[in-house]
Amino acid sequence: MTNMDPGVIQKRRTFAIIAHPDAGKTTLTEKLLLYGGAIHLAGQVRAKRDKRGTRSDWMKLEQERGISINTSVMQFSYADYVLNLLDTPGHEDFSEDTYRTLMAVECAIMILDGARGVEPRTIKLFEICKERKIPIITFINKMDLPAMEPFELMDNIETVLGITCVPFLWPMGSGSLFKGVYNLRENTLHRFEKTKAGAYRVPEKISGLNDPDLQEMMGERDYSKFLEDVHMAKEMLPDFDEDLFRATEITPVLFGSAGTNFGIELLLNEFLKLAPPPQKVTIDDGSVIDPGDENFRAFVFKLQANMNKAHRDRVAFVRILSGVFERGMQVYVPRLEKNVKLASPVSFFGQERNTIDFAYPGDVIGLINPRLYQIGDILCNGSPIKYSPLPVFAPEAFASLVLSDTSKSKAFRKGISELAEEGVVQVFNADQQSPIIGGIGQLQFDVFKYRLEDEYNAPCRVENLNFECSRWLKNESDIPKLSRFDRVVRDHHGNAVVLFETRYRLQGFMADNPDIQLLNHPPV
Ligand code: G4P
Repeated sequence: MTNMDPGVIQKRRTFAIIAHPDAGKTTLTEKLLLYGGAIHLAGQVRAKRDKRGTRSDWMKLEQERGISINTSVMQFSYADYVLNLLDTPGHEDFSEDTYRTLMAVECAIMILDGARGVEPRTIKLFEICKERKIPIITFINKMDLPAMEPFELMDNIETVLGITCVPFLWPMGSGSLFKGVYNLRENTLHRFEKTKAGAYRVPEKISGLNDPDLQEMMGERDYSKFLEDVHMAKEMLPDFDEDLFRATEITPVLFGSAGTNFGIELLLNEFLKLAPPPQKVTIDDGSVIDPGDENFRAFVFKLQANMNKAHRDRVAFVRILSGVFERGMQVYVPRLEKNVKLASPVSFFGQERNTIDFAYPGDVIGLINPRLYQIGDILCNGSPIKYSPLPVFAPEAFASLVLSDTSKSKAFRKGISELAEEGVVQVFNADQQSPIIGGIGQLQFDVFKYRLEDEYNAPCRVENLNFECSRWLKNESDIPKLSRFDRVVRDHHGNAVVLFETRYRLQGFMADNPDIQLLNHPPV
């Protein structure tokens, strides 16, 4: 077993960027990689995204729909830190996958468009972070375009998300009047100069509030308003409190313009101070895993099929919780009750893979092993552990799956079972002729159908069902109490799940049946 320098853990950060599409997540990712020296010219992330279709057929769907379904992992370094950025698709329909990815990070950067504030798809992602106490740093982007007033933006965040804003930076104007940001904590002024193409690090001029150029640049009226706002922000807005930040009660707010590279360095520097390194986790028996423990412990948070269709391969994305990973090591997988040799681990950079020899807590490795792993699997050495890091979500969209060519029944069953295992959808009444699939939205169904047909050659129809929420029944003995109008299905473990046409019906049901216990996760 390899010993680990404790500094290795302290210098690691594993995070995600949450955003509504178009807020600038891809652009910010590119710029973080650019500043981290992982790419030399911005544009590579996007270029890779556009090329994906050549690597895997089903990802054509991504291109047709103009969205990013795939979750990729990028490791880069900045200062002397190693950063693992887990990409989370912003499309709300694919949020089950996204949710799981959020379970593998210690911090999130929430990027908002300065002109739009909080948009719908950010809300759900935010709620998951809040529920799991993942601290959030807010980056208000596109300040080089006309934006809402900073007080208005913070009011919007607080009202819609219910989190208190602590501005770290204060913008000087926006759009054509954007002149930079003032660091409220360090009292430094960072001037914005628009540079060509946005592909290189921007020169940053740093001065103070009494910079003589400033009044001239901003004009007297804007300058005095800016001073007044800075004064108000310092006086009125709450102080930063690390405990409240870690509890997702407050969010530091930074402003910038990823498109023109402005504010990236400020963001990275604050991020490294704020984002927690790999943390201790409490496992099912109440004991604690410390990232510095010698024993290797890791969990599978995502399976990605067909990253290389020629090999029908499937990659298990594994987040390391403790210990050092070494290529070729043997680990125990409690669910399988067997030892497995981790022979061909890979690390990722977008869609590119490299074989890795070592990895540490906070890192994500990819294991290529068709069909061996399931989402939520634990990999460990030393004494086996029981840990259930990934919640199951109560689906909000349902459809009946009908096989169009009955001669393909075997392939249909196989496809359903394997794709459900991979977490593409949840399957109910799996033993019936037309099983029911559930998910967060329609896109999951489209991907499921596409893959059943493409990979399993099982043509089928997806017939949407008119239900919008579901709850597990805590006690089987309550089934006779349900009325004949209540629709009950069985999940793949045989647990009873009640489907409701509307949230209103669910509330009515709960009011009428206070003695029936409903759960938004399977009973344990
Ligand atoms: P997403 O991944 O969150 O969906 O957003 P993405 O980065 O693709 O950005 C959406 C659009 O917003 C892109 O323009 C991008 O160039 C632009 N953008 C991102 N950050 C900034 C910024 O700070 N300032 C300005 N002015 N624009 C920004 P596009 O026209 O859709 O794409 P492209 O032609 O620029 O590639």
